[in-house]
Amino acid sequence: MVAAFDVREALKAVVDPELKRNLVDLQMVKDIDIEDGRVRVTLALTTLACPMKKRFVESVKEAVGKLPGVTSTEVELTVMSREELDKLFPKHPLKGIERVSRFIAVASGKGGVGKTTVAINLALALAREDLNVGLLDADMYGPSIPTMLGLMQRPRVEGGMLLPLEKFGLKVMSFGFFVEEKQALIWRGPLVSKTLKQLMDDVMWGDLDCLVVDLPPGTGDPSITVAQSIPSVSVVMVTTPQEVALADVRKAIGMFRDMNIRIAGIVENMSYFLHGDSKEKIEIFGSGGGAILSRESGLPLLGSIPIDLGLRKGGDAGVPLLYDSPNSETGEIFKGIAKRLISQLAISRKAVA
Ligand SMILES: Nc1ncnc2c1ncn2[C@@H]1O[C@H](COP(=O)(O)OP(=O)(O)O)[C@@H](O)[C@H]1O
Ligand SMILES: [Mg+2]
Repeated sequence: MVAAFDVREALKAVVDPELKRNLVDLQMVKDIDIEDGRVRVTLALTTLACPMKKRFVESVKEAVGKLPGVTSTEVELTVMSREELDKLFPKHPLKGIERVSRFIAVASGKGGVGKTTVAINLALALAREDLNVGLLDADMYGPSIPTMLGLMQRPRVEGGMLLPLEKFGLKVMSFGFFVEEKQALIWRGPLVSKTLKQLMDDVMWGDLDCLVVDLPPGTGDPSITVAQSIPSVSVVMVTTPQEVALADVRKAIGMFRDMNIRIAGIVENMSYFLHGDSKEKIEIFGSGGGAILSRESGLPLLGSIPIDLGLRKGGDAGVPLLYDSPNSETGEIFKGIAKRLISQLAISRKAVA
């Protein structure tokens, strides 16, 4: 008769080649179920996208299968919870953001859906609620925040730390401050995460009630790496109502969920166009995509932003709409999104000593 103890001992021979520790020590073995000679092992992976998935399953089957009395081995896979991951990989607190209370990361399935426009105007709408807000441009493949805010100076260094620039009441840091405009940015994966960590670790963000992060678009490595290195981040997904964009955004939502990263909700951008004096709503890109996605994913639809030339002009001129005309119709929508996030994420103004 094979006992759970024997199975556990056998699993100690299976080592994660990356972390160089065995599955039992890594707390990956969640459950061992034995019925006669049939063994069922439940393994919790760090991510369902784990590249070693297949290899783990094979190694477990091999190790357990060798035990006398075992007739079959089945492996069931789950994913570790945020708490389990934090325990396994204690984050070294990043110095630059140690006094930042909340993190909102703005993400999208693909580029060009208005992620940066939303990040900037959302940050300004939050700041209007009497909050200290920072804006981190983590889209290193296309850092557009410098242009969209009309900010070009090189940040100063003080006491070994970079000082964020300040504009429109926001503290701002972008990789774009350090490169020539339009310089092609080619990044190797490991360098991306290292540089982004620096933008949090080596930047003196100071006391912030909220840091808004403009993530790289898509479901690729950079957005995962960035989101993972931000402590207890909440993601805002930006999408347009088109079906294609929705397919991309579904993939992105699945990815964040696999990584146990919290998603605060969906913002639908370029939802409709207000036409003529009658302000008839024209749904150029189809309608209701955000609502469908919200129903299907169970995530709240935080707001729907119209196509507004003011948003585009604001971006081109470096004066965002929320600064220029905060009381416009679009301005009010952004303020509504900010208020929803403030209550949902319990963001409040920190008394600074
Ligand atoms: N709701 C909107 N109405 C009009 N123009 C918009 C809107 N949202 C974004 N834009 C414009 O579309 C372009 C792409 O937006 P951007 O925020 O840079 O997208 P992303 O960061 O996703 O690549 C920019 O020129 C921007 O000004
Ligand atoms: Mg952008």
